[in-house]
Amino acid sequence: MEPSSSNFSSSPSPFPLNAWYACAYDVEVGRDLLARTICNQKVVMYRTLDGEVCVLADACWHRLLPLSMGRLEGDELVCGYHGLHYNARGRCTSMPSQEGVNPSACVKSYPVLERHRLIWIWMGEPSLADPASVPDLHWNHDPDWAADGKLIHVKCDYRLVIDNLMDLTHETYVHGSSIGNSAVAEAPFVATHGHRTATITRWMEGIEAPPFWANQLFQARDYKGPVDRWQIIRFEAPGTVTIDVGVAPAGSGAVPKEGHASDRSQGVNGFVLNTMTPETDQSCHYFWAFARNYSLTEQRLTHQLREGVANIFREDELVLEAQQQAINANPGHRFYNLNIDAGAMWARRLIDKMVDEESTPAPHQSQRSIVIKQAA
Ligand code: FES
Ligand SMILES: [Fe+2]
Repeated sequence: MEPSSSNFSSSPSPFPLNAWYACAYDVEVGRDLLARTICNQKVVMYRTLDGEVCVLADACWHRLLPLSMGRLEGDELVCGYHGLHYNARGRCTSMPSQEGVNPSACVKSYPVLERHRLIWIWMGEPSLADPASVPDLHWNHDPDWAADGKLIHVKCDYRLVIDNLMDLTHETYVHGSSIGNSAVAEAPFVATHGHRTATITRWMEGIEAPPFWANQLFQARDYKGPVDRWQIIRFEAPGTVTIDVGVAPAGSGAVPKEGHASDRSQGVNGFVLNTMTPETDQSCHYFWAFARNYSLTEQRLTHQLREGVANIFREDELVLEAQQQAINANPGHRFYNLNIDAGAMWARRLIDKMVDEESTPAPHQSQRSIVIKQAA
C-alpha cells in the first residue's frame, strides 16, 4: 500500500453499533450491580440466581435514577428511589402503591452472551445479533493454553489502541526494555485483508531474541542463542486484535517455507488477545489477555506474565492518552501515513465500512431474525 495522507477522524461516528463488544470479564459480573458505559450508553449488569448475565439500560423508567443505585431482590432489580421492580428482561413487574403495572413501564434490555471468559453485548439492532459473529478468543479458556488478563480503562478513542496494536514497530521505541529491539522496526512485513479482517505478518529470522522472549525460551526449552521470531497480527472489525507471537531456535523449522509445514514445536508461542470497546468517543475499555502454550501448569508464570504484560501496556497507555490530548489540541490535523501504518489503515477502512453500512441498511435487513440466548 502506498503511503498517503488521510484524516483519521473521517467516519461520521467512531464506532458501529451492530457488533459484539466485550463489556466485562466474566468474574466482574455477579450479584452486585455493575454500571458501565458502552458506546455512549449507560448500562447496568448483573447475574440472575441461576448465573445468567443480564444487561439493562441504567436509567429507571420512572424518574431516570440510575438503576445501578438500586438493589437485587432475587432475579429482579429494584430501583433505589421509589422501588419499581424490573425483571431481567427490563420489564416492570410491580409499582409501589399501585395494583396494576403500566404496560409501557420497561427499560431496554440488551442482547448479551458469555464466551471466551468475557461478557459480550450487542448495542445495535437486536434482531441482527448473531452469536456466531462473536470474535474468536478461545485461547483465553482453551486447556491447551494458559491465559490470564486484565481490563484497562484508556482515555482515548478505541481506534488509537487498534493503530498501536497493528503496528508493532512501536515496540522498539516504547517497549525497548522488554519486548522491543531494532529487529522489529527493520523487518519487512506482509499486509493482507478480508471482508472484516486485516492481517500483518512479520518474520524475523536468525535474530537475537529480545530479553522477554530470550528468557521464556530459556525457561521453557533450555535454549540460548539466535532465534526466528514471528508476529502475526490479525484485526477483526470493529475492535478485536489477536497477536500470534513467539520465538523458536533459529532454523528449527518454525518459518513457513515452500513445501514445508511450519514446525514451532521447539519454540514458545503466545497469543496476545485484545478487544477494545468504545466507552465514549474518546475513551475505551481495553480487555486483554496473554495466552501461552508452554509450561502450562506453572501458575506462578501465569501470574508473572500477566503482571509483566500489564507493565508493558502501561507504557502504551501513557502514549495513547498523550496522543489523544494532542489530537484534541490540533483539531482537523491530517495524518501522514507511513508504510508501517498499512495495518491501521486497513483496520480503519473496515470500521468505516461497518459504520457506513449501518447508516445505509440493506433492504429487508431488519427482518432477519436470529434467536439468541438471553436471560429470562
Ligand atoms: S426513579 Fe425509579 S422508581 Fe422512581
Ligand atoms: Fe505496545
